[in-house]
Amino acid sequence: MNSRTLLALFAIFALLPVGLAAQSHDGALADHQPHLFAAADFDIDPGAVTYSKDIAPILQRSCQNCHWAGGGAPMSLTTYGEVRRYAQRIKDRTAIRDRMGAMPPFFVEKDIGIHEFTNDYSLSDEELALIQAWADNGAPEGDPADMPPPLNFETDGNWVLGEPDLVVLSPDVTMPAIGPDRWGDIGTVPTGLTEDRWVKSVEIREVNDIPADLGTSTVGGRYIFHHMTYTSVGLDENGDAVSGTSTSWPIHEVGRNADIFPDRAGRLLAANSALSLANSHLHSNGRETTGRLEFGFTFFPEGYEPEYTRRGPRLGNGIDIDVAANRGEQEFHSFVTLEEHTKIIAFEPHLHAPGYRMCMEAIWGHNQFTLNCVGYDHNWVKQYIYEDDAAPLLPKGTILHIIGFLDTSEDNANVADARNWAGGGRRSVSNMFIDLGYSVVLTEEQFQTEMAERRAKMTDRNDFDVGCPLCWAPTIMTAGDDDQDTQAAREQQ
Ligand code: HEC
Repeated sequence: MNSRTLLALFAIFALLPVGLAAQSHDGALADHQPHLFAAADFDIDPGAVTYSKDIAPILQRSCQNCHWAGGGAPMSLTTYGEVRRYAQRIKDRTAIRDRMGAMPPFFVEKDIGIHEFTNDYSLSDEELALIQAWADNGAPEGDPADMPPPLNFETDGNWVLGEPDLVVLSPDVTMPAIGPDRWGDIGTVPTGLTEDRWVKSVEIREVNDIPADLGTSTVGGRYIFHHMTYTSVGLDENGDAVSGTSTSWPIHEVGRNADIFPDRAGRLLAANSALSLANSHLHSNGRETTGRLEFGFTFFPEGYEPEYTRRGPRLGNGIDIDVAANRGEQEFHSFVTLEEHTKIIAFEPHLHAPGYRMCMEAIWGHNQFTLNCVGYDHNWVKQYIYEDDAAPLLPKGTILHIIGFLDTSEDNANVADARNWAGGGRRSVSNMFIDLGYSVVLTEEQFQTEMAERRAKMTDRNDFDVGCPLCWAPTIMTAGDDDQDTQAAREQQ
């Protein structure tokens, strides 16, 4: 062994601990471990797992709304013939679970925080165990008689939330095969409403002339609308916008789910209003494409009035960002103090290409609660809507804290060039770090009522509601309250 080899060996050993230390966090893309489960832990006999009996129902619930012949995904997963050859890749992509590349795209980390979301179609540990046992065992079909009845996407699949009450169309837009991204106003389209209506849900889809069997493997190749930020405005007799009548609506982005507003906090679409499609971001996809957006609204019944006002803190930082080149784990922090009692309806991490994770925590006094940590993949911009009885219920004075995790190394397939420093900005190669979710403010009375509802469902003092730091705080009794009730409550605890 010559001295140069020795030196090289020494260099390797000297560097090794540094390398290991740099990988000691489990969050980064480089060390993300697949979520593998042993069949025995779920009393599953691996040899008995079949496509017809066990796998098809999972695919129907969590995959086929995209993976059917006319859906947004690159291949259909509706028959055994189609699914069989993807068995290994299905196993791999589902086992990623909550990081970039995971299927289905729903990235909530299951081992921490709140678990109840209205739009959760993720897979359970047992379902992952079934898929893994099945793929490892040669992906057998089993008895076709065990198959669940097929879903009909031609009729059911066009609107995820079902046929809307009102559909408003944007103008058609044509993008050339190759060209720079386009930003701007694509017009104002009347809703045709003759009376005020409170909106329960809104779903937006792009309809374009790209053939369903195009065979592209990227989401970007199937669409021209990267996103659309829009408002509704009231119009006067001349068709001009009336100032002060604007309502903002959740953003449309490629891969984003539909929005369902809570029963107590609908949004107003006014009589004689129009959608102002002022902020579109369009992008060429390699093929001349003409497309439009379709806005599908469903309404609350006539006479409905919301109880809560939608208002909440803005969390994050869209401008002042300093992202180092080629570095695996970079953390960003943003804090805001709640000035009113607040119920968080939805969490929507928004990062750009380097982003791979965001956590949100609530700090109350010396307590720090992780509300949720979710993975992030800039191909999918997901909003996570809490179940009404699990949504964070935070007293004024709570400090909300979000933590963004960015990876600009070669491990991040979404980063175009690992060598670039990047700051804040609107393009995907620039960065953002914000929570686009939304909240409602509660009066003292509403806050106490909601907490009492939670408390009533908790069985004993060990039953803990992670989003409700004051749920178990002693109730403040005012003068004149019945002392016997207080006594009874104390004895129960
Ligand atoms: C919301 C739509 C959507 C859902 C739901 C969805 N997928 Fe996908 N899937 C896509 C899209 C779009 C792609 C291509 C882009 C990508 O790879 O991320 C894809 C890619 C894949 C791939 C990789 C294909 C390849 O060529 O390697 C696999 C495997 C896959 N999905 C399996 C699944 C399974 C299994 C489920 C359900 C457990 C599922 N997907 C749920 C949209 C979806």
